[in-house]
Amino acid sequence: MHPLPVLVPLLPTALALPSPGLPFVINTWGGPFTVATDAAYASLLLPDASALDAVEVGCSACERDRCDGTVGYGGSPDEACETTLDAMIMDGASMKVGAVAGMRRVKNAIGVARRVLEYTRHTMLAGDLATRFAVENGFEEVDLATEESIRACEEWKKSGCPGNFRVHVKPDPSTSCGPYEPIPLAWGSLETTGFLAASRASKTSHDTISMIAIDARGALAAGTSTNGAAHKVPGRVGDGPIAGSGSYVDAEVGGCGATGDGDVMMRFLPCYQALENLRNGMSPTEAAENAVSRMLRRHPDLQSGIVVVDNQGRHGAAASGWTFTYAFRGGEMNATQVVTVQPVKAALVKQF
Ligand code: GLY
Repeated sequence: MHPLPVLVPLLPTALALPSPGLPFVINTWGGPFTVATDAAYASLLLPDASALDAVEVGCSACERDRCDGTVGYGGSPDEACETTLDAMIMDGASMKVGAVAGMRRVKNAIGVARRVLEYTRHTMLAGDLATRFAVENGFEEVDLATEESIRACEEWKKSGCPGNFRVHVKPDPSTSCGPYEPIPLAWGSLETTGFLAASRASKTSHDTISMIAIDARGALAAGTSTNGAAHKVPGRVGDGPIAGSGSYVDAEVGGCGATGDGDVMMRFLPCYQALENLRNGMSPTEAAENAVSRMLRRHPDLQSGIVVVDNQGRHGAAASGWTFTYAFRGGEMNATQVVTVQPVKAALVKQF
């Protein structure tokens, strides 16, 4: 049994950054992801702008532009070299969510998620049948692969499929590609073999856009879009389309967006936790640090980042395993600002 670290009280200095005023938009990552911040902010300045529109417009810009390659078509191909997309969008007043998981052959995943929210009583559609729904709703069906994604995937296979996500199979997945067959496990072996599973193989990709918008009337929305984990097992769905994990919003308190190792993060619902922390009186930074620390107690190697904003636009963030950045723009700001966030200090995740 691994000793579990305990959470210690957060420092009173973990204050939020002030709100620049409304309308306001904030998203995971700076650099190429600021194309989404700027698109969402511009949409918030239009007459009758809504927070939901801004989140759709912002994440769609990242899907078209592909940001750093981890959002939209042609990125993170699975073992079979196919790109699939996960996305969700959430309205902070009604708490309605629309999501698509493992959607194939449609580029505008957040747009389809919005149609799920507005034109069904469901929350999530998946795989080929999400594609059928998208086509019924006017979206184009296209191949999401690019020459570059196919070439990179074929090279990966030639080099023995390093960093795939298989365990307890033969041939040895650390040196060989499939097809794989399972090795029978002894009863009760999960605790020692699977509980503290290693984080994803790639330590380089930013991996997700998650965004929260507050429109001039104070309405809130949030959304997430990603092409998931490179070399995933076909059919894998990450945290992106899971409400409370990829993102979450509640107009009573604020919003949250996440990025990182979705296979682990979706087990902890960090954005749901962060908003409950806000509701219980923490600042956005404290709320984020607490939510990240809860995951780190169990997964010390986790790569994660979350941004949290209260319903007035005060914001903060926390990260683990990498230096995280986020972007925001609001009020009268004439340019997007990027904030760098260092991983949470070990003192926040004290060992027993
Ligand atoms: N955070 C993106 C994913 O793991 O799918």
